Amino acid sequence: MKPLIVANWKCNPTTQKQARTLFGALNRGLKGAKAEVVICPPFVYLQSFKLRVSSFKLGAQNCFWENKGAFTGEVSPLMLKDLGVRYVIVGHSERRQTLRESDTIVNKKILAVLKDGLTPILCIGEAAEERWQGKTFDVLEKQLEGTLKKVPKAEINKVVIVYEPIWAISPGRPCSSDDALTAGLCIRKIISQMAGKAPGKSIRILYGGSVNSQNAASYLTSEWLQGLLVGATSLDAKEFLKTVKSVFLLNK
Ligand code: PGA
Repeated sequence: MKPLIVANWKCNPTTQKQARTLFGALNRGLKGAKAEVVICPPFVYLQSFKLRVSSFKLGAQNCFWENKGAFTGEVSPLMLKDLGVRYVIVGHSERRQTLRESDTIVNKKILAVLKDGLTPILCIGEAAEERWQGKTFDVLEKQLEGTLKKVPKAEINKVVIVYEPIWAISPGRPCSSDDALTAGLCIRKIISQMAGKAPGKSIRILYGGSVNSQNAASYLTSEWLQGLLVGATSLDAKEFLKTVKSVFLLNK
């Protein structure tokens, strides 16, 4: 399976013009790339990208759990699907921390995204104190159990899971590749317990947190991780293309 590279633009850039320039550079630069790349811009830019995407897939950074109705300010999975979106990031730590999104809310979103035939990209990961207290495995287990509740066992493999330790998100420092791979293995084990069988090769577990062109390939040296979630680096077209290239070269 090709590695999956997800670009999370977060709340950037601030103008249509800048967004179009970045989008155009990526669209040209990714032509023919052997990696599967998903670009997740802010909602407001999705419409203008819809018809021009050729080299990658479109993702959203969030969604609501209902498809329509009296929910002021929300954007539904069906609306995103209509815009050509195929992936939706859910449970990012910035939303958990800043907007108090709980595992219960993230769970509702995952169920809604799956129901509409989109792919959830679920972010999980421990805070710095939890890591130093040796609680990483427990945190991952609790987050997976809470967010994947009621997901049919046969569908768990459809969820892309990102191990993104909060302390490693830039401007933090990247997690070592050994630690990221170990977390990937832990996640795989927890998922096997939940699904009642080994997840096999179809599940995708990614690493996220200060990924750049220098360290990207080091996370993909074993079968425990199948891709990367890239934040700050994805806002610099040249550096992001270099990052993607460093990864797909591994798979030639
Ligand atoms: P970063 O962000 O690559 O800037 O650390 C990753 C993310 O939080 O999605």
